[in-house]
Amino acid sequence: MFAVYAAEPQPESPLDALRVGERPDPEVPDGWVSVSVRAASLNMHDLWTLRGVGIKAEQFPMILGCDGAGVLADGSEVVLHGVIGDTSHGDETFDPKRSLLTEKYQGTFADKVAVPARNVLPKPRSLSFGEAACMGTAWLTAYRMLFTRSGLRPGQTMLVQGASGGVSTALVSLGKAAGMRVWVTGRTEEKRALAVSLGADEAFESGARLPERVDAVFETVGKATWGHSMKSLKPGGAIVVSGATSGPDAGADLQRLFFMQIRVIGSMMGNRDELADLLAFCDLKGLRPTIGSELPMTEAKTGFEQMLAGETAGKIVFTR
Ligand SMILES: NC(=O)c1ccc[n+]([C@@H]2O[C@H](COP(=O)([O-])OP(=O)(O)OC[C@H]3O[C@@H](n4cnc5c(N)ncnc54)[C@H](OP(=O)(O)O)[C@@H]3O)[C@@H](O)[C@H]2O)c1
Repeated sequence: MFAVYAAEPQPESPLDALRVGERPDPEVPDGWVSVSVRAASLNMHDLWTLRGVGIKAEQFPMILGCDGAGVLADGSEVVLHGVIGDTSHGDETFDPKRSLLTEKYQGTFADKVAVPARNVLPKPRSLSFGEAACMGTAWLTAYRMLFTRSGLRPGQTMLVQGASGGVSTALVSLGKAAGMRVWVTGRTEEKRALAVSLGADEAFESGARLPERVDAVFETVGKATWGHSMKSLKPGGAIVVSGATSGPDAGADLQRLFFMQIRVIGSMMGNRDELADLLAFCDLKGLRPTIGSELPMTEAKTGFEQMLAGETAGKIVFTR
């Protein structure tokens, strides 16, 4: 079948590992289903996979794509949940052996993908396949950060580091819909304008001093923004972290951490119930992900180049 895959790890030049070609159909064990993929979205995770981060060398070649939407054999339209894990831990994201699609099991940038039957949810009719494809990774991650992990209440102020990315645009849209005061930092005027168009109350240059301290900061950038995140928080505030795009080795600023009683909270994707609630929330509120670039899967390389260059304006989606 057609597939977009990583041939081998390429830490320095990830796009050299990218292949658009043919791979075998996935095996479908008992209790799993095969989904004909209609759309899937690009996530930074796919660039990490090309670099060999978070995947064992013996897992290559690996079909990329952590999320998607498609059709089952009986014609039902579904959204994919990309976290494969044991729910006896209460939440599959806490299963120490859980994996995301593309870490152990083949991903969604292909004609077909196989997942456990519990990992497909009905696609709301209000979302197109392309929009629904964005839900399983970036939007689910933003949903869990905001509603499960942060402890933020409507009316409080949140700061999102990064304006135009998949997770950041999802945080802005969800935060606005839930009644938070949403502040954003963005690297260019254009990216800041995008955040404001999505409902951010104010958008600031990266690192800018804010008018006042915030209740929670949402971090996916890491080293480049960590110091600013720490300085931007009210006493007792929270930093919710789900990524470190610019590097993980940020100084902890421990003195500020204890003196200001800052809470640092990790967050990883989301569970199936959260994905179901996210889909219902989008349906109820008429929320749709912002798609900056939609390309046929055959032109996936262009999307990867855009993400690598930081040329994002919301999600990058591939259709089949
Ligand atoms: N833990 C999880 O479950 C999970 C799930 C999804 C994503 N993630 C992680 O979250 C991160 C973002 O993923 P994504 O798919 O949203 O990527 P993306 O769409 O490419 O977005 C990247 C974002 O990072 C910002 N950024 C990058 N470098 C920056 C720098 N040097 N200074 C300031 N801002 C910078 C960009 O800000 P501008 O808008 O200003 O350019 C943009 O908002 C990745 O590290 C990814 O691995 C984690």
